[in-house]
Amino acid sequence: MRKKIVAGNWKMNCLLEEGQKLTSEIVNMIKDEPIKDVKVILNPPFVHLHGVKKLIAGVDNIALGAQNCSDKEAGAYTGETSAAMLASFGAEYVIIGHSERRSMFNESNELLTEKTKQALSNGLTPIFCCGEPLEIREADTHEDYVKAQLTESLFGFSEEEIKKLVIAYEPIWAIGTGKTASSEQAQDMHAAIRKHLSSKYGEAVAEEISILYGGSCKPSNAKEIFSKADVDGGLIGGASLKSRDFVDIAESF
Ligand code: PGA
Repeated sequence: MRKKIVAGNWKMNCLLEEGQKLTSEIVNMIKDEPIKDVKVILNPPFVHLHGVKKLIAGVDNIALGAQNCSDKEAGAYTGETSAAMLASFGAEYVIIGHSERRSMFNESNELLTEKTKQALSNGLTPIFCCGEPLEIREADTHEDYVKAQLTESLFGFSEEEIKKLVIAYEPIWAIGTGKTASSEQAQDMHAAIRKHLSSKYGEAVAEEISILYGGSCKPSNAKEIFSKADVDGGLIGGASLKSRDFVDIAESF
């Protein structure tokens, strides 16, 4: 059985008190309305990791993640944060290759391989993001585009390593735009991703890997999207900043 996951990506939002309030509200709701069989992951900015970790302590199905990590182990890299540090602060997951980092910080497929290596060697589960821009979708070459992202960054990993990943499919045209992929578009791409993983690692391995959908996911569309066979949950941006919406999404399976 693949893990069902709802991960909140706060991006660069929340001052100290806002982040604490958001986390406490989520924790209280999940204590009151236990969500069975769904892993809820909070991915706040680095400065919140320690505080959020304390607030979620003891709540079984909530875990901590980060939004990025360095491709280097340690040393003179001012402003960077290593995967080892994240692990030492209690993070279990790390988002790698979000489209905002690919486009605004020029993160290449090669660099993302290095970040994924760092995450894995420090015991973190990478939530590896892929997804196409609008012009690629309109040209109907989106499957090839996403497959190439995965091949170039990930296909050097072993079967044991790849099994540890979570993949997030996030069509760039749907991120923060209010425009969601239809559940059929999501399912088609998720199935294509799984088939691609299967072509390299075999079906049994591909069947074990959770593939999340991201892009304007909200309580009103999560149920329909999560009902699809190859959609194992969501990576949630905007709606993860509203406790009620985020927990409602986690309850949408
Ligand atoms: P969104 O962001 O839910 O605000 O569209 C998703 C993401 O970027 O992870």
